[in-house]
Amino acid sequence: MKTIVTLSGTALLGLCLTNSVLAADAEAGKKVFMNTCIGCHNNGLNVIAPEKTLKKADLQKNAMYSEKAIINQVTQGKPPMPAFGKQLSAGDIENVAAYVLKQADSGWK
Ligand code: HEC
Repeated sequence: MKTIVTLSGTALLGLCLTNSVLAADAEAGKKVFMNTCIGCHNNGLNVIAPEKTLKKADLQKNAMYSEKAIINQVTQGKPPMPAFGKQLSAGDIENVAAYVLKQADSGWK
């Protein structure tokens, strides 16, 4: 029992350190995007709401062109887009927001 407590304490500490030391990482965000978002947002498009793409012009028009706005929407969802706050860690969500902004800036090339 004591071993288990110690081990999980160490793992938790490791997680906290990782989260606070690393800034948002678009490369890691790409993996999250490929696993979680691509079904609806392949190539930055939107299969459900075609006018709400992840391209820069649409993000700007919809007040979504910021890490904060994207983090909020991914965490809480905005029907019909599901919420991912339970499925993804805060770090994953930060990273995927950084990836979306980076791709928006480069035209999803
Ligand atoms: C089941 C389909 C689906 C999935 C999966 C999905 N989205 Fe969405 N997404 C939507 C829909 C629908 C909207 C439009 C919501 C609205 O009415 O504003 C949207 C909107 C957005 C917007 C705002 C676009 C704009 O121009 O206003 C962003 C940013 C976004 N999604 C990011 C993500 C990210 C990042 C993920 C993965 C973590 C993700 N989405 C997963 C369906 C989805």
